[in-house]
Amino acid sequence: MTDQTTERKPIIYSGIQPSGVLTIGNYIGALKNFKLLEKEYECFYSIVDMHAITLRQNAAELRRRTIELAALYIASGLDPDKNLIYCQSHVPAHAELAWILDCFTYMGELQRMTQFKEKAAKNEANINAGLFTYPVLMAADILLYQSNLVPVGSDQQQHLELTRDIAIRFNNIYGDVFTVPEAHIGKIGSRVMSLQEPASKMSKSDPEDTYISMLDRPDDIRRKIKRAVTDSDAEIRFDPENKPGVSNLLSIAAALSDQSIDGVVNSLQGKGYGDLKQTVAEIVIEAMRPIQSEFDRLMADKAYVQAALSRNAETVAGRAAKTLYKVKKKVGYTLPDRKQGRVQ
Ligand code: TYM
Repeated sequence: MTDQTTERKPIIYSGIQPSGVLTIGNYIGALKNFKLLEKEYECFYSIVDMHAITLRQNAAELRRRTIELAALYIASGLDPDKNLIYCQSHVPAHAELAWILDCFTYMGELQRMTQFKEKAAKNEANINAGLFTYPVLMAADILLYQSNLVPVGSDQQQHLELTRDIAIRFNNIYGDVFTVPEAHIGKIGSRVMSLQEPASKMSKSDPEDTYISMLDRPDDIRRKIKRAVTDSDAEIRFDPENKPGVSNLLSIAAALSDQSIDGVVNSLQGKGYGDLKQTVAEIVIEAMRPIQSEFDRLMADKAYVQAALSRNAETVAGRAAKTLYKVKKKVGYTLPDRKQGRVQ
């Protein structure tokens, strides 16, 4: 433990890429849990635009999505004066620490990352070095702020384990520099599945009818859920292995209505898949409605959102600088003495 964690509230860190519209998978697996932890923790939530460029992005779209994601954070109930919502590229310390941690991470570790393997398979024409070292930048994000807890969906668990290994490795060499973080993975909906291929994760980079965006309007939500793949035995039962489509719909309903899965199943006793789909669609619509109206209001006042990002970037940069200073000294960098014009 570092002195920071004993003096302050424990720290939460998480990030989301502004690389596409957010899906209800992002919301259920991550964003929804951010709010729940606001009271007991000091919370850092970043828009990880540096991670986003590991896949080719259109510059104007990336800029627009960055503001939209900030607005979605706020619309989901995170007050930017209580939560340090900020943009990763505004704080150069992330890139600086990532470089240092690159030198403490093995090729073999990165080669084992399933997300790298999946993304490389999908983007054969652009398997760039950034895609490969993506998890190290993520470790830098987390370790810069001495984070204790990292709320994420279960697809990020492997990256969290690597982050812990890097932190422990560094601490073993240089003493207690980094807090070793824990993952916080929700019990229901930590892996929301595709509506069309319930064996794979719901993802914003897949075709439109496979996911529900947080900004989808009611008719689209109803249409997509109506077409969701189920099975032919017509029994509403939670059984992810044998009934992945139905189980996915039940998880979505439970997570968004704060019920247990049993509660949802019981409320649908004697009913068919048509009723299940209608129930799920209405739950999703009601959960997204207040977020969407707040989002629309914020997007009409982008200056407010931009000002919050700038303010928070300054606060966060100050915090990042403390860890980075310590790390630089430990690895043996000289630090410039600006007043004297010499190095120490
Ligand atoms: P990203 O943008 O891909 O995903 C953001 C968050 O959404 C979760 N998630 C899901 N949860 C449940 N079901 C799904 N279908 C689903 N799809 C996505 C992800 O697990 C994630 O929590 N590498 C991170 C971004 C990141 C980060 C960090 C996270 C960069 N630095 C530091 C935590 C801490 C990512 O995958 O983002």
